[in-house]
Amino acid sequence: MQPRVTTSTLIKMKQEGKKITALTAYDFPFAGFLDKAGIDIVLVGDSLGMVVQGKENTLCVTMDESIYHTEMVSRACRYSMVVGDMPFMSYQGSLDRAVENGGRFLKEAGASAVKLEGGADVCPVITALVKAGIPVQAHIGLTPQSVHQMGGFKVQRDEERLLKDARDVEKAGAFSVVLEGIPSPISTRITKALNIPTIGIGAGPGCDGQILVLHDMLGINDRFLPKFVKKYADIAQVANQGLASYIKEVRSGTFPSDEYEYK
Ligand code: KIV
Repeated sequence: MQPRVTTSTLIKMKQEGKKITALTAYDFPFAGFLDKAGIDIVLVGDSLGMVVQGKENTLCVTMDESIYHTEMVSRACRYSMVVGDMPFMSYQGSLDRAVENGGRFLKEAGASAVKLEGGADVCPVITALVKAGIPVQAHIGLTPQSVHQMGGFKVQRDEERLLKDARDVEKAGAFSVVLEGIPSPISTRITKALNIPTIGIGAGPGCDGQILVLHDMLGINDRFLPKFVKKYADIAQVANQGLASYIKEVRSGTFPSDEYEYK
């Protein structure tokens, strides 16, 4: 078995020009698929609120829910690095609270790192977490927890601000940074300017790695998909077909047939 991905593995991959693969997962069976497939980073994203809980945005997700899902995911992962996503208001209030909440992901849920949203504004939090021994993945650009402040899920184009945010989170101690909803030339420039790996989502091919929301790329939900999502499978269609066959066979009495009976 290959050794588990660590922060040093990811830095080395950037140095060697090897692309990093990342996806989200929220439960044991899907995390198992990702781990066995060799996905480098499994993020237990707060997209949980939208794709699992059926809410309109990510703001509702709580610490206890995030810990519950991260724990299930960690139990399935042997190779992939598990990153727990710090929910809205779990790190914005005070540094002590941020460290306490960040620590729960490592201590109770088996994650190796946490992710949080924001640039220059969250640098003191990143530094406090790193000082406490909690590796941090930053997340800049389109930050869904600021949906109301941004006036919707909007592509971010302020190149100098984005570059400064990226440099600041690196200086604060982040081991990696997610670039979301950023035009390709800007994310390429950021990627070249940093020593830590960039993981893009809707940020073009110039990043060191890519991440997508699992339920979007596998076609599990029929929710609106942003332009950057490629659907690699249509699980909803397979599930709907299976369910329709089951209903038909139970109603017609053809299930259970002989082979599914105890004699
Ligand atoms: O919550 C999430 O799934 C994320 C990724 C989309 C980066 O933050």
